[in-house]
Amino acid sequence: MEKNRDVIIALDFKDKADTLSFLDRFTEEKPYVKIGMELFYGEGPEIVREIKARGHHIFLDLKLHDIPMTVRKAMRNLARLGVDMTNVHAAGTIDMMKAALEGLAEGAAECGRPAAKLIAVTQLTSTSEERMQKELLIDASINDTIVKYAQNTKEAGLAGVVCSPLEAAMVKEACGREFLTVTPGIRYPGAGVQDQVRVTSPADAKEIGTDYIVVGRPITAAEDPVAAYRKVCADFLG
Ligand code: C5P
Repeated sequence: MEKNRDVIIALDFKDKADTLSFLDRFTEEKPYVKIGMELFYGEGPEIVREIKARGHHIFLDLKLHDIPMTVRKAMRNLARLGVDMTNVHAAGTIDMMKAALEGLAEGAAECGRPAAKLIAVTQLTSTSEERMQKELLIDASINDTIVKYAQNTKEAGLAGVVCSPLEAAMVKEACGREFLTVTPGIRYPGAGVQDQVRVTSPADAKEIGTDYIVVGRPITAAEDPVAAYRKVCADFLG
């Protein structure tokens, strides 16, 4: 059964062999997992089918952004893979987001599955306010852009957005408690942050009220990934 709050492990591995040997360590639980561009483009759609067949829920993180008809047709195909959650860029416009939803519903109906949750990326965390203003000529603060894109996402009928835990409260305030926030950037105090800049612990993410946390290296690079996963679950879900 899919929960409305969960810990999603980011499967940022270079290939299928590394990914499956990581998943083989989980003998008791079937974690919700995120498949991103590297694995999907390297291994093709078969990797999604294979992990799905093992019983995992899948967030397919491909961040689609194109003309509405192209996104609609692409989403129809992704829905046939049986993914549980996927995403688009909110910058693609409300029309594009609506087209994505239609495509997902069509694909799901064709294979008799419930439609995947669709969420949107507001601003990538790698985009600084300075670059957004000077390079992209967006004349607003990054927070105002995030809130506006989240409101557009809600208006298009999507389930929620990807954002940092620190933005989740702002998004919930603007779009309502039911509007989902899916948040990466999770780290324990004292552990290395690697390339993440603004980070939050699982317990703080729980306190903030985010719905899903996406956790990569704190679990995948741990000496005992299963124990690390259980601790994150206990701290976020417990
Ligand atoms: O290893 P780590 O916990 O930093 O992994 C976080 C995951 O979330 C990675 O797959 C990363 O690409 C993704 N992500 C992110 N920040 C965003 C969007 C996605 O860290 N704004």
